[in-house]
Amino acid sequence: MFILNQQNSIANTYLAEIRNVEVQHDRLRFRKNIERLGELLAYEISKSLSFKQTSITTPLKDTSINLISDQPILISVLRAAMPFYQGFLNIYDHADSGFIGAYRTEEVKGGAEIEISLLYQAAPNIDGKEVILIDPMLATGKSFLKSIENLQKNGLPKMIHIASVIAAPEGVAYLEQNIKLPYKLWTCALDEKLNSNSYIVPGLGDAGDLAFGEK
Ligand code: URA
Repeated sequence: MFILNQQNSIANTYLAEIRNVEVQHDRLRFRKNIERLGELLAYEISKSLSFKQTSITTPLKDTSINLISDQPILISVLRAAMPFYQGFLNIYDHADSGFIGAYRTEEVKGGAEIEISLLYQAAPNIDGKEVILIDPMLATGKSFLKSIENLQKNGLPKMIHIASVIAAPEGVAYLEQNIKLPYKLWTCALDEKLNSNSYIVPGLGDAGDLAFGEK
């Protein structure tokens, strides 16, 4: 599992601002910081993709450079993922994109009973492709797993890169036990635990509400 903040970098500044109650209510800044984290994680993921040597011509000479063979397919889990997804789209600017609407249908104290329903899926063919599945909060892992299962209607991917801003150990363990396809986990921060409402601690609160307002 790749954890962006394991090394000190500018990512810590963005993470501190989205977590800090004194700063996070600036909605524009919150979305911008999440977008920047998406860009940084997209860059890290790019190092694991396939490259091919490609010829280009400068005004002075022919030369060659290693370019990504195929841009990955980006899948965004609505609505909270939109700013994070925008960061990925800034980096993979030719990527095909898909969208999944997932929501919690049952919440029982203790979190174990949380169920996820999918309302909507519009996604391209992912057969044999590198896919980046984007959702900022990897809490129980259930919406990621449900999304992965549903995406298989669109083919079997070569690799699913699971990208989050903040992950909980419980969600990571759940995905590790249940995903049957090749996958890699990427997060900006790995936090302590889930609370009884399945919110990540210390986390940041509700990412969707902070980005777009309370439902
Ligand atoms: N979704 C959120 O927005 N925050 C959490 O802590 C968990 C799920």
